[in-house]
Amino acid sequence: MATSTGRKTYNVGGVLLNQPFKIRRLGHFGFNVYKIDECLEFYRDFLGFKVSDENDFKANPDPKIQEWLKDVESGKGYFMRYGTDHHAFVLFNAAAMIAMAEGRAAENGNSTEGMTGAHGMNINQITWQTGTLSEVTGAYHYFMEREIPIMRVGRDMPGSNWHVYAYDPDGHINELYYGIEQEGWNGRSKPRDMYDRRFREEPTLPQMPEEDEVDEAIAKGTDIHSGYRSDEPLPANFDVGGVLLGRPFKITKIGPVNLFVKDLGASLDMYTDGLGFTLTETVEYKGHKVAFLRNAAEHHTLGLFPEELRKELGWPDVSTCMSFGIELGSYQQLKDAVSFLKERGVSFMDLPAELHPGIDYAVYALDPEGNGIMLYYYMEQLGWEGKPRPVELRRKVDAAASTHNVEAWPEALEPMSDTYVDQVFQGPLG
Ligand SMILES: [Fe+2]
Repeated sequence: MATSTGRKTYNVGGVLLNQPFKIRRLGHFGFNVYKIDECLEFYRDFLGFKVSDENDFKANPDPKIQEWLKDVESGKGYFMRYGTDHHAFVLFNAAAMIAMAEGRAAENGNSTEGMTGAHGMNINQITWQTGTLSEVTGAYHYFMEREIPIMRVGRDMPGSNWHVYAYDPDGHINELYYGIEQEGWNGRSKPRDMYDRRFREEPTLPQMPEEDEVDEAIAKGTDIHSGYRSDEPLPANFDVGGVLLGRPFKITKIGPVNLFVKDLGASLDMYTDGLGFTLTETVEYKGHKVAFLRNAAEHHTLGLFPEELRKELGWPDVSTCMSFGIELGSYQQLKDAVSFLKERGVSFMDLPAELHPGIDYAVYALDPEGNGIMLYYYMEQLGWEGKPRPVELRRKVDAAASTHNVEAWPEALEPMSDTYVDQVFQGPLG
């Protein structure tokens, strides 16, 4: 179908869109790291992600993978969650991921350029949720038509999400998915015996519902309650809104992802025209343009920073990810989190407030590898007219309180019109 301007449109659930899919939110994100044990402690013990499944590539019986990984110490990877999605964050061993990528590239006669440099493959994936399976297959064909490079299509286990992986102009893997596995009250993941519904190619549509997959597994004699379950590593010593947790805060959302990019124009084309993001706001900072984009009502889920800014900001030179955002349950929890993390030796960076528009109080913790983790509790919400709040109407955060020195922060805040109006965390906090 085409509009009066001649642009092709796609019917997504009876509504005509510019792409055959609509990204609804950031689903998960991941880093490949060298310091995997220290990072596991940081993300699991300190931040409170729960491990939902482990993966060990070195245990893969495929002789090719065995050969590629023979000089790599650990092939371990961790799928982690904070809510019911099987994973919201993944942590993989960078040495193993690079060895496998090089092995595959050599096999296919492809170049390994960009894989092994200072920033090669540090971001494991940036993953976006769509509403239906047909949007994922639609995206696959749309990417092919537009010659957006595709890594793979199908359905992965662990996680059970149907997906397509495509590359942005800097080589970041963007995954679009539908239907990630949900963990229930007993915290168990799907057992490995049910991984027979993995797909390594485009699925034919329609597919059976997950309910039928579970019925089939029961009929085959699979113990459907035998999947992975992890224990809370820390004693539940902190009262968080009336419930005892292992740390004085709870992750309630992930994102935004901030990226350093080589060519802002090319990245903007990919994320707006290619992936359907809306540009919320651009900021001029020391002569550099920074772009903030969204795919729902929050101010932004993605920030695009020109890579020249890294030096000026004095940012660690470890990754093309400037920061991965993690929302905590409240302002109080954010302050308590900073103290908790500092007591455990975590270091912090400061970023000028104009580089996190729509967010009032934010801190940037560094993981053991040096990746920036933005912790915050509030993000501006946009209404039907799609306009961000004018800068002068935003909360004023004074200079002393715009750093990670939480002792200088106000005891309590006046509410904004959009305080506590985004979706509340579903289910118990722990
Ligand atoms: Fe994924």
